[in-house]
Amino acid sequence: MNNVRNFVIIAHIDHGKSTLADRFLELTQTIEKRKMREQYLDQMDLEREKGITIKMQPVQMSYILDSTFYILNLIDTPGHVDFTYEVSRALAAVEGAILLVDATKGVQAQTLANYKLAKNQKLTIIPVINKIDLANARIADTEKEIEDLTGVKPDKIFKISAKTGEGVAEVLEEVVKKVPAPANNLNKPLRALIFDSFYDVHRGIVSHVRIVDGEAKPGQKVCLAASATIFEIEEVGIFKPNLVKTEKLSSGEIGYVVTGIKEPEKLRVGDTIAEIQNSKSKIQNEELVKIQPLPGYHEPKPMVFASVYPESADDFDLLKKSIQKLKLNDAALFYQSEFFQALGRGFSLGFLGMLHLEIVKERLAREYNLETVLTTPSVSFKVRLKDGGEVEIFRAMDLPPVEKISAISEPWVNLEILTPAKFLGEIMKLTELYRLVFLENKYLGDLMIIKFKAPLMDIISDFYDKLKSVSSGYASMNYEFSDYRPADLVNLEFLLAGEKFEAFSRIVPRSRAEKDGRLISKKLKELLPRENFQVAIQAMIEGRIICRENIPALKKDVTGYLYGGDRSRKMKLWKKQQRGKKKLKKMGRVEVPPKVYLEILKL
Ligand code: GTP
Repeated sequence: MNNVRNFVIIAHIDHGKSTLADRFLELTQTIEKRKMREQYLDQMDLEREKGITIKMQPVQMSYILDSTFYILNLIDTPGHVDFTYEVSRALAAVEGAILLVDATKGVQAQTLANYKLAKNQKLTIIPVINKIDLANARIADTEKEIEDLTGVKPDKIFKISAKTGEGVAEVLEEVVKKVPAPANNLNKPLRALIFDSFYDVHRGIVSHVRIVDGEAKPGQKVCLAASATIFEIEEVGIFKPNLVKTEKLSSGEIGYVVTGIKEPEKLRVGDTIAEIQNSKSKIQNEELVKIQPLPGYHEPKPMVFASVYPESADDFDLLKKSIQKLKLNDAALFYQSEFFQALGRGFSLGFLGMLHLEIVKERLAREYNLETVLTTPSVSFKVRLKDGGEVEIFRAMDLPPVEKISAISEPWVNLEILTPAKFLGEIMKLTELYRLVFLENKYLGDLMIIKFKAPLMDIISDFYDKLKSVSSGYASMNYEFSDYRPADLVNLEFLLAGEKFEAFSRIVPRSRAEKDGRLISKKLKELLPRENFQVAIQAMIEGRIICRENIPALKKDVTGYLYGGDRSRKMKLWKKQQRGKKKLKKMGRVEVPPKVYLEILKL
């Protein structure tokens, strides 16, 4: 295994990872020149269009240095914080990382976050400054920032242009020289780390693996440590980057395993494939205990929730099938069916963050041709009950009655903002508008790292857009879950003509209840069709009305068909109309068209 090198490229979003990977593919002649297209490893349409990496695409390259033949396994990783779990599993599968920094942007929030992940994995880190061909490249500043971060001296930091190819060959040479060869544990029983998977209609789940111990071969009886699922390996092979079958995969190598497993819920990124001796189809407990799963596996924890409904209720079955398929390719997506009287059947979805949410919505539209409506994203709340129980909810309508609740807590995050120091004042002013708690700040070159604790709810609102706007796009941020904290939250409810419409309820900080109440009432007034009677729109917290809007009654001219001035006949008709209105009012039902629900839920 001395001639194998496994490495990743880590960077902030858009700093040029995929472009650098393209140059490596050319340099090693992995892809024929005529087949080469930009960002080759971003294979999903959506990735190509948005220019971002969502899924990792590993690739094996052959390389000769000083007459020695090397196999280089590169994993191109997603740069966005929403995909940190995937990045961390990719890092666990390699020995080295190229830390790529855009010379025009300098070190940014995900540079920092990914650097820390790589350092924790004890990877060999090769810092590289990219985009030096651009006129506005700030090479010296970026060198200083990288030096402050990593301790690597400027003359040891590579400067390249992934676009023109300048300096790229030297970086690849450095990978071969500096990244250690993987440990050789060929004599041990098979253990492989799953760092990604996809679904093949004919062959079931195909897993991307790093073989840590032993060998993987077709016909081998193995088991998944976390789900205790037994299967027989059907095929193994490598990524070129398309799948190429091989006889076996050995300790230290990266490749794929065809599992034949058809149930996606059984297999998760981060799980271990381990050899078993027992040939029975059901695994014995003692044997499962003997298996040492590789470290790092954890169930992805959704941070942001929203309900999804098909735009047309007839499309529910299509929505269901689409979400199930999507899940195979997106292990972090959580879903569960739900019912909403006004809208019919839909799903509660859980996401790792807002970008994840946006991508799922777009994939449903593009890959499954399905127009959906997603409700306003929310975090999940923990509600402690007076009887000692606890429930976790994210929809206000699931909130237990106020008299049963002893406390509500909400998720908080550790937030890190990276910005050129000159925007510090503006950023601090902005943070005062949210419930952010300042912790500390420190310099990194001319940059400032500012740390906060913050309620996740505030961060997923418009905070990021505002941050970008007050810093002319220069500030970046990163956050990770910290803990649940008690919060002064209230259920903001809405009444239409005296009747509660639960679908409009939402959980908000008490300090924001009135503002949100007014905003939504106004919007309802705008959207609701007029009735034959006056409709009062009231916002309420804890049984107290906090604001009111009126929709005037529709005036219908009931006397229009009468000629002349027979006053008494007109009076009779008006009285009848009055009685009718009263009766309607008593019945009190306001018809809310589904379109209005959706508009309000999106607010
Ligand atoms: P994510 O996958 O979204 O994290 O982005 P990425 O890091 O893979 O960045 P990508 O390779 O997609 O590059 C982002 C943009 O920068 C693209 O428009 C590239 O063409 C451009 N780019 C990358 N490297 C260079 C370079 O060296 N010089 C110049 N001028 N542009 C570059």
